[in-house]
Amino acid sequence: MADQSSTPAKVEFLATKTVQEQLTEGELLVPPPKYILKDGIPCPNASLELMDVPIIDLGLLIPSSISVEELDKLRSALLTGCCFHVINHGMTAEFLDEVREITKQFFAIPVEEKRKYLRAVNDFEGYGNDMVLSEQQTLDWTDRLYLTVYPPDQRKYKFWPENPISFRDTLDQFTSRSQVITETILKSMARSLNLEEDCFMDKYGEQGKMEARFNFYPPCSRPDRILGFKPHSDSSMITILLQDKEVEGLQFLKDDQWFRAPIVPEALLINVGDQIEIMTNGLFKSPVHKVVVNGEKERISFAVFCFPDSETEIEPFDCLINESRPRLYKKMKNYGDTFFEYYQQGRRPIEAAII
Ligand code: OGA
Ligand code: NI
Repeated sequence: MADQSSTPAKVEFLATKTVQEQLTEGELLVPPPKYILKDGIPCPNASLELMDVPIIDLGLLIPSSISVEELDKLRSALLTGCCFHVINHGMTAEFLDEVREITKQFFAIPVEEKRKYLRAVNDFEGYGNDMVLSEQQTLDWTDRLYLTVYPPDQRKYKFWPENPISFRDTLDQFTSRSQVITETILKSMARSLNLEEDCFMDKYGEQGKMEARFNFYPPCSRPDRILGFKPHSDSSMITILLQDKEVEGLQFLKDDQWFRAPIVPEALLINVGDQIEIMTNGLFKSPVHKVVVNGEKERISFAVFCFPDSETEIEPFDCLINESRPRLYKKMKNYGDTFFEYYQQGRRPIEAAII
């Protein structure tokens, strides 16, 4: 038999119904083994401590009224691998509720209608279940709607729901406002490290890409052994997350301990992703996080991931490499593309970047 050890395993995509579809058909009343966590994966724990997440006022980070304390708060959150909340971000509490509402409404439309937006088995864009890449993988108890929202010419409108009626317009507004927030945060991050203000923005570029992910976590009868989203770090530069207003579920790993992420209804939760960890040569940490499910209540969340254009090469900035801090990561391109392959093996794509 030929030696296949150097050939990468062929990725096979398997078709599986969405969680909601199976629930509707009564198939998941007793969750099958493919959803049950195997040994070794951290177990959900509702009694975890709440994480101390700093709240940053974005109004104090705009160049005309920059506050040194606010910048220090930002830097120390990122150096310690913490996420942070932003307020004064240009979106009203009512608008954020509208975004939560269109998310709930989309997942509430009949399964048959949602199938119009179904993703292809081997593509992440569109509506569907957790990406299935092997019979062995443990499936997430979640359905997702994944859409490219920026640049506009890369949108695939066939996947954009027309029901609820305000869906497209609300998403479009969230995208424009997220661009402004991203710019402020990327520039502030650079300033906080005394780097050239545009160094991250130059990588993000004019054609920086934004992907939106609507997450829906139905109630689950085995919240002790099933996860909504397995542990991972995001492959983005930064992620902007709008959490459910009432139902908790998100947890972060910090100093080897899991913490519950608090809910601040009018805030957006920001974390840096792997690409910032690479560019800062590991100074800013891309935090590992996961989502637990609830026994009685459904939960929604909405995330926007900001990526450089796929052709852009990323690597640690020269000025952050020195004798005491040698270069940790290789030059990478198309970094986000391998996320699900690593994810479904319980690994992080950043492993491939480590020298
Ligand atoms: C994600 C994610 C968290 C949540 O979509 O990458 O981590 O609360 N979501 O759903
Ligand atoms: Ni995530």
